[in-house]
Amino acid sequence: MTNPFYNKNVVSIRDFTRNDLEYLFHVADNINSNSLCEALRNKILGLVFFEPSTRTRLSFESAMNSLGGTCIGFSESSSSSTEKGENLNDTLVTMNQYVDALVLRHQKDGVARFASEICTKPVINAGSGTEEHPTQAMLDLYTIFKELGTIDNLNIGIFGDLKYGRTVYSLLYGLSNYNPTVYLISPDLLQLRSDALSDIREKLSIEQHSNLSDVISKLDVIYTTRIQKERFPDIQEYERVKGSYRIDESLLKNTKDNLIILHPMPRSEEIPPSLDTTKYAKYFKQIRYGKLIRSALLYLIFTEHPEY
Ligand code: CP
Repeated sequence: MTNPFYNKNVVSIRDFTRNDLEYLFHVADNINSNSLCEALRNKILGLVFFEPSTRTRLSFESAMNSLGGTCIGFSESSSSSTEKGENLNDTLVTMNQYVDALVLRHQKDGVARFASEICTKPVINAGSGTEEHPTQAMLDLYTIFKELGTIDNLNIGIFGDLKYGRTVYSLLYGLSNYNPTVYLISPDLLQLRSDALSDIREKLSIEQHSNLSDVISKLDVIYTTRIQKERFPDIQEYERVKGSYRIDESLLKNTKDNLIILHPMPRSEEIPPSLDTTKYAKYFKQIRYGKLIRSALLYLIFTEHPEY
């Protein structure tokens, strides 16, 4: 099979097919092999983060180290020349000279696509505004596949801030390669944006609900997200929905035995820490799968003829 990731940008999960994703999962299954520990020797990854991150930045860094490569970059714009007024174009073009690929997180929609158009090296979108976070969706799909053995024919509940959570949009686009039934569960003010909803309805079976308790007994997966406070244009809108949803332990009395609970993290109040020790909680394991997926992705972007 031709490597569909070689030298490619990863701006949107919509740019990849089911076959591409399943090939990525296959490589992730095998990436721990010792033979790959020098695979990215002499490759440099640029980490360009204009917004805070723990998992995305550090998993890429950890993956690159495990494969023998190195990373340079910044984790906040205040430590770059952006602070002195340098424009985004010049920062990106500069990084493009120093590295073999860029991982970019930015608070504005469209910046990842812009970067992919002006950089000659592959650009990996690590979160662009409210728009997408494609590598999170890759690891979310991989987690479902590893934990439940399939993504087809599942009942998947996506619960929380569906309006501003960019991981939700990438996950829905990724799920549209499969045939689950998706339950969108949120307070009215946090429903999925209408343009994306009509687009996704053409590809996926969707039900919308306000209460998790109405559907929890049917679900194989609950994927929940925190309220994205930093994305609200009006703080009063945030105050109206703050603390308005969570997975109470009492709800778990009425679930399928093999239900899994996922979260892209960081969490806020939607998953109480008391759930962490239940058999349903897979959100820390999901983080481990994240390093495998990002290792596989880097390996494939940099390797024309991969070992797998
Ligand atoms: N899931 C995710 O994007 O986490 P970070 O913000 O910590 O990178």
